Amino acid sequence: MNILVIFATYSGGTQIASATLAEALKAEGHSVTVKGPAETQTDELVKSDAVVLCTPTWDFEGKEGQPHEDYVGFMEKTKGASLEGMPFAVLALGDSSYTHFCGSAEVLEAYVTSVGGILKVPSLKIDGYFFSQEKHTGSIREWAKSFSGTLSSK
Ligand SMILES: Cc1cc2nc3c(=O)[nH]c(=O)nc-3n(C[C@H](O)[C@H](O)[C@H](O)COP(=O)(O)O)c2cc1C
Repeated sequence: MNILVIFATYSGGTQIASATLAEALKAEGHSVTVKGPAETQTDELVKSDAVVLCTPTWDFEGKEGQPHEDYVGFMEKTKGASLEGMPFAVLALGDSSYTHFCGSAEVLEAYVTSVGGILKVPSLKIDGYFFSQEKHTGSIREWAKSFSGTLSSK
């Protein structure tokens, strides 16, 4: 399947996590494109067989628990897309010392539902990526496998 992995990052964690994810999905036999929300056009989303949205959690305009700001424009420009039944998954990086731990996942989950997409697996929420990178790499690989499993059984 053609899987589109969309990621944005501030301090680099989500970029590395997305690369791990892409590698793991390729190992499951998928063709994977990795790009940023700002570069992703609506027709690329529609053409994909599945989409993974990857984001850090940050504060945006004074509000904590938000996705990377590039997702604001992304959600706006793609909100009218016909993505009924499109398989989606959300990978969020955060830190549990913040009040809204990985609140970005909820924002992106609501977006997926609003465009008619289907969340195939529970969102993966990573706490303190750089503090336990090896452990998180393992979790991302496992999660990629389970997401892939839901696609092949479609
Ligand atoms: C200014 C700032 C705000 C943050 N806000 C949150 C937050 O609201 N919730 C959360 O879970 N993590 C929050 N984090 C933690 C980051 O999401 C976490 O460090 C993440 O790994 C960063 O990913 P990146 O390296 O891809 O930018 C915040 C970090 C910073 C520096």
